[in-house]
Amino acid sequence: MQGLLKLFLLAGLFTISLAQCSGNFTNETQQVTLEWTVIDDNTVNFIYTAPSTSTQYTALAFSNQLISQASLSGTVALDAVYAGSNGTSSFVQDRWVTSIFNNMLDTEQNLEDTSASLSNGLLTVNFTRPIISPDNYNQDLDLNVCQYVIYVFNGAVMGSFSSPSGFNIPTGFGILPMQLCLQNCSDVPSPSTTVPSSTGAVTVSTTFVQSSPSISGSSSVSATLTPTATPTSTPSGASAGMIASVLLIMIAVAIVLHV
Ligand SMILES: *[C@@H]1O[C@H](CO)[C@@H](O)[C@H](O)[C@H]1NC(C)=O
Ligand SMILES: *[C@@H]1O[C@H](CO)[C@@H](O)[C@H](O)[C@H]1NC(C)=O
Ligand SMILES: *[C@@H]1O[C@H](CO)[C@@H](O)[C@H](O)[C@H]1NC(C)=O
Ligand SMILES: *[C@@H]1O[C@H](CO)[C@@H](O)[C@H](O)[C@H]1NC(C)=O
Ligand SMILES: *[C@@H]1O[C@H](CO)[C@@H](O)[C@H](O)[C@H]1NC(C)=O
Repeated sequence: MQGLLKLFLLAGLFTISLAQCSGNFTNETQQVTLEWTVIDDNTVNFIYTAPSTSTQYTALAFSNQLISQASLSGTVALDAVYAGSNGTSSFVQDRWVTSIFNNMLDTEQNLEDTSASLSNGLLTVNFTRPIISPDNYNQDLDLNVCQYVIYVFNGAVMGSFSSPSGFNIPTGFGILPMQLCLQNCSDVPSPSTTVPSSTGAVTVSTTFVQSSPSISGSSSVSATLTPTATPTSTPSGASAGMIASVLLIMIAVAIVLHV
């Protein structure tokens, strides 16, 4: 019982600290960047940049399971955005991927305000989507629960850029080092009203894995606090809130250890 109480206490605090209402990720080696901003209760904007050419595409995908480059050949369930530009014609498509060999255009396209532009060997993809998708065909994943984020790039587009007929296997692959967790974003101050603290950038990376809520299930909670800037994703827009959350967690841990 005591163990459960501790878990509930920690789980509650972690839920608060998981709010990543805006943030960014950069992999300098790969020249990939991703920025996300929750713009209202059920809307999030992504700006994604990756290497590309006038014959290639790039894709960003959400997954509820950890994905490796190798596992893409097996069965997966990815909610993906495929994009490309040949300089004159471009596409940004809502697609559903069941393996690297098989992806389909979603019956319902749930992306808005899309654009893809190629410049200096980099494709910049801008799209807005619902956090909880209204998709009626089970071809989208909701972002109000933590999801893994992967990306692929440098794959050839088959057919025309106005209406691609297929996508060759890409050579570039990457995964964000943390899950994207947009739950509870309507509860935190809008990023635009928060002045980022100027000193000591705190990189917070949290993972919260919870099994089914049955008593016999097992749960684990882990947190990593890195005091200096590292090339990992950094939830931004609420630095003070983040620090407060981390303090709360530390206090909770201290209390729990004394129960
Ligand atoms: C960046 O990409 C390289 C090559 O795939 C990978 O080894 C590295 O871990 C990535 N870094 C981050 C921060 O994801
Ligand atoms: C992304 O698209 C939105 C909506 O069209 C626009 O307001 C915003 O300026 C764009 N951002 C970038 C970096 O292109
Ligand atoms: C880009 O794709 C469009 C549509 O397929 C095609 O009409 C156009 O010629 C292509 N442009 C270049 C530069 O390849
Ligand atoms: C976060 O959202 C979940 C699901 O909507 C809700 O049950 C929970 O109470 C919320 N937590 C906070 C701290 O608002
Ligand atoms: C990325 O996040 C960091 C940390 O919150 C922030 O300082 C920086 O301005 C962000 N960069 C962009 C391009 O949004």
